[in-house]
Amino acid sequence: AAIEKGNYRHYMQKEIFEQPTVVAQTLSSYIRPLEQTVALPQMDFDLAGVKRITIVACGTSYYAGMVAKYWFETFARVPVDIDVASEFRYRDPVLEEGGLALFISQSGETADTLAALRHCKEQGQTIAVVVNVPTSSMAREADLLLPTHAGPEIGVASTKAFTCQLAVLAALAAHLALVKGKLSAEEERDIVRHLIEAPAALNAALAHDEDIAAMAHLIAPARDVLYLGRGPDYPLAMEGALKLKEISYIHAEGYASGEMKHGPIALIDEAVPVIVLAPSGPLFEKTVSNMQEVRARGGKVVLISDAEGIEEAGEGCLATIEMPSVHPLIAPLVYAVPVQLLAYHVACAKGTDVDQPRNLAKSVTVE
Ligand code: G6P
Repeated sequence: AAIEKGNYRHYMQKEIFEQPTVVAQTLSSYIRPLEQTVALPQMDFDLAGVKRITIVACGTSYYAGMVAKYWFETFARVPVDIDVASEFRYRDPVLEEGGLALFISQSGETADTLAALRHCKEQGQTIAVVVNVPTSSMAREADLLLPTHAGPEIGVASTKAFTCQLAVLAALAAHLALVKGKLSAEEERDIVRHLIEAPAALNAALAHDEDIAAMAHLIAPARDVLYLGRGPDYPLAMEGALKLKEISYIHAEGYASGEMKHGPIALIDEAVPVIVLAPSGPLFEKTVSNMQEVRARGGKVVLISDAEGIEEAGEGCLATIEMPSVHPLIAPLVYAVPVQLLAYHVACAKGTDVDQPRNLAKSVTVE
């Protein structure tokens, strides 16, 4: 049956709002809520023996992989290489024997990612895939299939597939940490408890829809927008910039907050809004000083943070968007929502074709 938009204006908008439901759906196959344990599918290879993980993906799926790199390294202490598929294929990558190659794709059909998968398979890597289409080529060719349960995604700009990918990757990181002996049973329960809270936190983030719609007109006239983040929020900054350029055609860049001084700071003036993704935490002070550098050059800051962060650094910002206070593991899922909504409302303000942006395809099955 055709997928309906229901009361929504666009598929993208509908898909953004589906996230609490589909993330919960996805998580339900990777955790046991009563036991408070993670529950990954049976694996017929030695996950505990994996010494290195190679992640390959494109577009939004690549940014999900970048977030996962932080998690796999922090929680499981397993080194991770990550590449966009089109680069990976042609650089003759060095693959360790017994390595795990992880491919992330909404469609499971992206030509570059599929070719990279086949290359890794030929090289004897164990193939794991996180895909949203369980009948896809990637799903069929994998040793380990980790499906997302986002349901069909129609909007060309990926939204709910991304947060569902993050949910699966977070559970995988916890599982890997467990089999590697880096996580106690109590720490596992703690992580599972935080994952269970993710859908409610996504709802809390979605509650800011109207505020974000109201501030979209401040961003719509911009020619360039800069997104900043640190740690796992750095890939989120890139994802935010990607969403904005895909559907509103405004040039946007996502940068690591600490790298701004090595280039993008030269662009900052009153006309360049800077969107800062910064949950409070040990690195928050550093981001605040980056914000001061922006403000000192006349730049306008939109701060996306929690109550504590906004209390500390919200003054003098062009706007603030308050996210719920969440565990760092689920922050990337939650912070995805305001950047999606911002791109969506800016595109609506500009009157662009949100679901079918020019020149882009939902699934790129040619090289
Ligand atoms: C296209 C889509 C993006 C998507 C990317 C990767 O560029 O427009 O939204 O992130 O392909 O697609 P995949 O299906 O492999 O996740």
